[in-house]
Amino acid sequence: MPKLTLPDSLRPAPKRPSETNGQANGAVKEAGISAIDWVDERTALTGVARWAMFRKIPKGTNWFYTLGSATMFAFLNQAITGVFLAMYYDPSPTRAYESTRFLTNEAFLGEFVRGMHKWGSTAMVVLIFLHMARTFFWGAYKYPRELNWIIGVALLILTFVMSLTGYLLPFDQRSYWATIVANNITASGPFVGPYLADFLRAGPDFGATTLSRFYAIHMMLVPAIIIGLIGAHLYLVAKHGTTAPPWLKATPPERQREDSA
Ligand code: HEM
Repeated sequence: MPKLTLPDSLRPAPKRPSETNGQANGAVKEAGISAIDWVDERTALTGVARWAMFRKIPKGTNWFYTLGSATMFAFLNQAITGVFLAMYYDPSPTRAYESTRFLTNEAFLGEFVRGMHKWGSTAMVVLIFLHMARTFFWGAYKYPRELNWIIGVALLILTFVMSLTGYLLPFDQRSYWATIVANNITASGPFVGPYLADFLRAGPDFGATTLSRFYAIHMMLVPAIIIGLIGAHLYLVAKHGTTAPPWLKATPPERQREDSA
């Protein structure tokens, strides 16, 4: 009797890697679940995660709704690349330029990381404006989200402060003179202008201490406030939910009951 061979199309598909070793895979899954259970039993954190991450999204949401998250990822990029830059950067007036030159030309992937930080800052400014425009044109600044709009304005101003203070750090001719101009403009502001300029310069003249003041503001003060405000911003987004596009008609209550049935 000749041996019967099945055509290729009728042969069972080869097993996937996850199916060939079913037992070990199950044990790994089990270990993951029990680790999460262990943490959850002691912290009840999954309830918080569920509250923050699972919610109803109105009809008609689109790509414009991702601009807030895009801004957040731009900020995360700044935070992560900034840590690596800080490993080489020296904020003293005599060493700042040389340490920037070293990290750009000699440190491993230095130019790449510096480029990500520099272009990332521009990306963050563009994204924050687009996100603000989205919330404005969708009317998301109205009741009950006014406070979130105000927090957003603070985040916008702090993003500008990051751009201004970061610009001085390479301490080359351009950053030095550009910052003197920016500081003079600040000093011409009404009432608080001169005090603010004095605070930024760390004294009446642009001097050796100005650079360390800008560095401390850029590295610690403003990022810490931004992180706190993003936390508050996201808390309010989770609490109020997302605004539906204003051009969608509201569903009457009787239809809502039908929809959910
Ligand atoms: C670091 C800067 C910022 C980050 C990381 C950020 C992040 C976010 C995220 C993730 C959301 C939810 C998703 C979305 O609607 O896009 C959101 C919503 C919102 N943001 Fe921002 N945001 C920032 C700046 C701003 C600014 C400058 C404003 C306005 C001045 C603003 C006003 C709002 C409002 C009103 C909402 C609620 C939108 C809604 O309910 O539909 N945000 N933000």
